[in-house]
Amino acid sequence: MGIGTASEAMTSEEIVALNRAHTFFSWSIQSAIDPIVVDHAEGVWLYTPEGKRILDFNSQLMSVNIGHGDRRVIDAITEQAAKLQFVQPAFATEIRGLLGQKLAELLPGDMDKVFFTLGGAEAIENAIKFARHYTGRYKVLARYRAYHGATMGAMTLTGDPRRWANEPGLVGVVRYPDTHRWGEAEPRPVEESLQGLEDVIRYEGPQTIAAVFLETIVGTNGILIPPDGYIQGVREICDRHGILMVADEVMAGFGRTGRWFAIDHWDTVPDLMTMAKGLTSSYLPLGAVAMRHKIAEAFEDKMFYGGLTYSSHPISLAASLATLRVYEEDGLIENAARMGERMREMHQRLAAEHPSVGATRNLGLFGIIDLVRSRDPWTPLTPFNGTSDEMKAIGKYFREHGLYTMIANNSVHTNPPLCITEDELAQGFEIIDAALDIADQAVTD
Ligand SMILES: Cc1ncc(COP(=O)(O)O)c(C=O)c1O
Repeated sequence: MGIGTASEAMTSEEIVALNRAHTFFSWSIQSAIDPIVVDHAEGVWLYTPEGKRILDFNSQLMSVNIGHGDRRVIDAITEQAAKLQFVQPAFATEIRGLLGQKLAELLPGDMDKVFFTLGGAEAIENAIKFARHYTGRYKVLARYRAYHGATMGAMTLTGDPRRWANEPGLVGVVRYPDTHRWGEAEPRPVEESLQGLEDVIRYEGPQTIAAVFLETIVGTNGILIPPDGYIQGVREICDRHGILMVADEVMAGFGRTGRWFAIDHWDTVPDLMTMAKGLTSSYLPLGAVAMRHKIAEAFEDKMFYGGLTYSSHPISLAASLATLRVYEEDGLIENAARMGERMREMHQRLAAEHPSVGATRNLGLFGIIDLVRSRDPWTPLTPFNGTSDEMKAIGKYFREHGLYTMIANNSVHTNPPLCITEDELAQGFEIIDAALDIADQAVTD
C-alpha cells in the first residue's frame, strides 16, 4: 500500500513517516521526534494500530480527566453536530446558556459568568484583558515556575525556561518568587513567599498592577502544592491593594485534585479563573475565563474589547456539558480523592524501597515523583532544565513496558484519568517500580 492511501490500515511506521513529512510537532527538534502512534483509546488505555495496549498515566496532557472513549460525550457531540454546528458568538444558543448555568453552579463563591475560548492559553490572554479593562491598570504579576501557555501573553507570564527563546514578550509583566525553589525538597516558608510577593508589589507600585496570576497548583513544573495559608495570603494581599487575583486552573481544575477546582482546597474565591483541558476532557477544544459577579457587572455598561470567531462553539459546549455530567454520574471527583489516597501510599512505598526517590507529592490524582542522585546533600537526577542518561533510560523502559507518562527534568508524573481503578493504578506503579532500579544505580550516598 502506498503512503497516503486510506484503503488499508496504515502501520505505525507509515503513520509516523507521513506525520513527519507534512506536519510540524510542537516543542521539538523535528528530527528528534519519535511519537507514540495511537489508533483508538478506551478508559485509561491507548491502543496502537498493531493492537499494543499502553496505560495512559498522564491523561495525555493532564486533560482527558474522564478517560477515553466515553459514549455519553461522543453521543452529545454527534447530536449537537447534527442539530447545529456553528453560529458566530454574537448569537445565543441553548447549549451556551445551559453550560454557563452549570458552570456557575460549580464555580467557587459568586463567580457566575464565563467567557468561552478555544483553550488554556486563549483563556489566559483574555483574563489579562479582563483584568486590565476592569482595573484600568496595566501591569500583570506572574510567578516563577508557572506555565500558562504558548501564545504571546501566556508565554510571557510563564515562569519557566520555555519562555526564554520567545522573549521579549508582552510589556507590563513582572515576575514574583516561586513557592518552591528548584532543587529543594521543601517549599519556602509561607511568610517568605508572601513577603516576596508583597515586596514586588511595593516596588512596582500597587496602583499600576491589574492582577496577580498564579497556577493554583503548579502542574508541568513539578506538581508544586502551595503550603496551607499561601493561597489565602495571596487573596488577602490582592484585596488590600485592589489587585485582581487570577487562578489558572487549566490543569488543576475539574476534579484532578479530588475537588472540582484546586482552589476549593483553600476555600478561596479568586476574581478570575482560567480553565480548559478537563472542561471537555479534551474531547473537543474549549477554554473559559470565569469571573466574579462584580466583574461581570462592571461590563454591563462598559465595552469589552475582545472576541474570537470560535468563542462558544456549540459542539465544544455540548462536549463540555456532557463531560460535566459524567464527572457527576460516575462520582469521578470522589474517585480522584479516593485513588489519590492510594496513590500516596504507592508513592510512599516507592520512596521506602528506592534510594533514588527524593520526594513524592500528590493531591488527588495530581502526582509526581522527584528522583535524586543523593538525598543529602539534595542532588536532583538532572540539572535544571536538563535531562540525564538515567531519565532517558527510564522513559525508554516505560515505553517498552506499555506505560505512557510525562517525564520532565528529574520527575516522573503520575496523573492518570480520574476513572482509574485501584488495580489499574497498581499496574502503573508496578512498571514505575521496576524502572526505578535504573535510577537507583545512579545513587551516590
Ligand atoms: C496551567 C496551564 N495554563 C495554561 C495552559 C495552556 O493551555 P493550552 O495548551 O490549552 O493553550 C496549560 C497547558 O498545559 C496549563 O497547564
